[in-house]
Amino acid sequence: MGYAPPMSERCRSTRRTVLAGLAGAAAMASPASAGSTLLGYAAPEAASDGGFGLAPPLACTPGTRSQTAGPFYTPATPRRADLREPGEAGEPLVFEGLLLTPDCRPVPGAVIDIWHSDGRGRYDNRGFRYRGHQFADAAGAFRFLTIRPGRYTGRTPHIHVKVQGEGTRPLTTQVYFPDLGEANARDSIFRDDLLLRLDRTAAGAWRGRFDFVLRPA
Ligand SMILES: [Fe+2]
Repeated sequence: MGYAPPMSERCRSTRRTVLAGLAGAAAMASPASAGSTLLGYAAPEAASDGGFGLAPPLACTPGTRSQTAGPFYTPATPRRADLREPGEAGEPLVFEGLLLTPDCRPVPGAVIDIWHSDGRGRYDNRGFRYRGHQFADAAGAFRFLTIRPGRYTGRTPHIHVKVQGEGTRPLTTQVYFPDLGEANARDSIFRDDLLLRLDRTAAGAWRGRFDFVLRPA
């Protein structure tokens, strides 16, 4: 992924300096204060610069619709962006987007935890295959490298998501694929406001974008 070390290092240093100054002056809690946890994960000291370059939307909603976590959520997933499994079949998918407030401001450092079935519709309920979390970068962006989930009995293919930022309510929801209209229409949980924006990367992988809007706590 396209990191820009000199600039991002400068930004991080500046932010650290500012935070250190604030802490020293008034001993106040910063948004990334030590010991803070989001969905049970220790929040990072400072949001990184992922260099994803995702343009923010012009308008946001009051909050992304929540949906059931279903029976297969596992907490304490690995912190990682690449969920691909060597040797496993599946259509490559880049799942990316922004974590935003209702007025479209980024929520840097928010955690996003995802889980989905493998290409044949099976969940790993013993380990962490196709499960992982990461923290949004300074622009509120995230990006996972994974595969398109398969369908399993009674459900259209979907990705489960939990998100939480400093000062936001935890959000649990699911996102769906717009090119699976028939399967989506047969799924009673499916909602079309949770559709990914789907296209292809230059390398031919699927790319699905969804911007999650987090309600204040
Ligand atoms: Fe599911």
